Amino acid sequence: MAERSSDLSGFYKKSAEERRKTVLEFAGIEPGAEPAWLPPPGVDRGILERMIENVIGTFPLPLGIATNFRVNGKDYLVPMALEEPSVVAAASHAAKIARGKGGFHAATSRPVMIGQISLVDVPDPNAARLRILESQNELLSLANGKDPLLNKVGGGARDLEVRLVPTPRGTIVIVHLHVDVRDAMGANAVNTMAEALAPELARLSGGRRNLRIISNLAIHRVARAWAIFPREGLEGEGAKGPDVVEGVLDAWNFAAHDPFRCSTHNKGIMNGVSAVAIATGNDFRALEAGAHSYAAWKAKDGGVIAPLTTYEKNPDGDLVGTIEMPMAVGLVGGATAVHPTAKLNVRVLGVKTASELAEVMASVGLAQNFAALRALANEGIQKGHMALHARNVAVMVGAQGAEVDALAARLAAEHTGRQDRAKEILVEMRGKVATSGT
Ligand code: MEV
Repeated sequence: MAERSSDLSGFYKKSAEERRKTVLEFAGIEPGAEPAWLPPPGVDRGILERMIENVIGTFPLPLGIATNFRVNGKDYLVPMALEEPSVVAAASHAAKIARGKGGFHAATSRPVMIGQISLVDVPDPNAARLRILESQNELLSLANGKDPLLNKVGGGARDLEVRLVPTPRGTIVIVHLHVDVRDAMGANAVNTMAEALAPELARLSGGRRNLRIISNLAIHRVARAWAIFPREGLEGEGAKGPDVVEGVLDAWNFAAHDPFRCSTHNKGIMNGVSAVAIATGNDFRALEAGAHSYAAWKAKDGGVIAPLTTYEKNPDGDLVGTIEMPMAVGLVGGATAVHPTAKLNVRVLGVKTASELAEVMASVGLAQNFAALRALANEGIQKGHMALHARNVAVMVGAQGAEVDALAARLAAEHTGRQDRAKEILVEMRGKVATSGT
């Protein structure tokens, strides 16, 4: 057999249908497998095919709706797209508990993103820094000239900062351009401005420009939310409310003092935040990068990573949770404005500005984290997880229709998610049906 080659010249020029055929041939997959790639009805193929390159189809994720969310006195149904069981249920449950004390209170800073221009081989970095700062007004005008529309809607380049970072390859002069990006995620606006400023900055510094790119460590664009989780709402699995409060406080304390735990603590927050980001067509990688680097940046005075949430007990003995994290999300430009499913999901959310979306997402992150800590400090997460996981296992071993729930129930009753056992039960169930049918 001829060796197969991934060097597919002209692949990008082919139609999606031709590409699918090529890919199936390459992978030795039988023709007829394509439907798993085809977009669901109602989603315009043409739009998706223009969003990225070499498109062969779509990858549908389950889309769930988190209920019970009340943020700043307004109710929301929150679309979440992700593959992990329990997340939507956990967020909805936490939001229900928080509702008892008014729900989430949230706010955002101004939507200011940072564009970085790095200058190398600068002969006199300290003097270069001052020359750049002296030219600040001209540089900001130059940047703003690149985006009149952003200026028209009240945004634009606002400030310049110059950092000197000594490295083994010499001092890097790093210029930070602060841009108020309004309702955009901002990468395009910021990168365009950074590229426009670079030649002038190189001239002023006497060095060479290296990179011109947005920073995802968006410390000037943060969303904050807090909520009270009343102790009466925290009873469960035989645990008393006050014990649950102490359990969550201990769980948070663990994350605050141990990076191995903190990583997972913050991952749970992103279970919520990224799921809403995906559902609304936002750049979830930018959010993940921002969140985790912010967690490291926040710990700069000690430790290596900090939790993005905090928990305290108020005088009533209730739990008060807070979250603060970068939230670079947009409603204009990008996939949010183009992808038909994202557009519909934004309409379901009913958010009118990127800040409002960021406030809801911070609330979802807090809800998700609270739900995880509450469960972990009590019954553990496997119980809730296993019930949903059991359905996935049932599907994996070939259960069809009503068999899925029946098999999942048997697996849950046996407290197992093992595929080999699932297969045995399925065979047994089918045997019984066949026997009872004769
Ligand atoms: C699982 O996806 C997320 C959790 O591990 C988060 C946490 O441990 O806090 C449950």
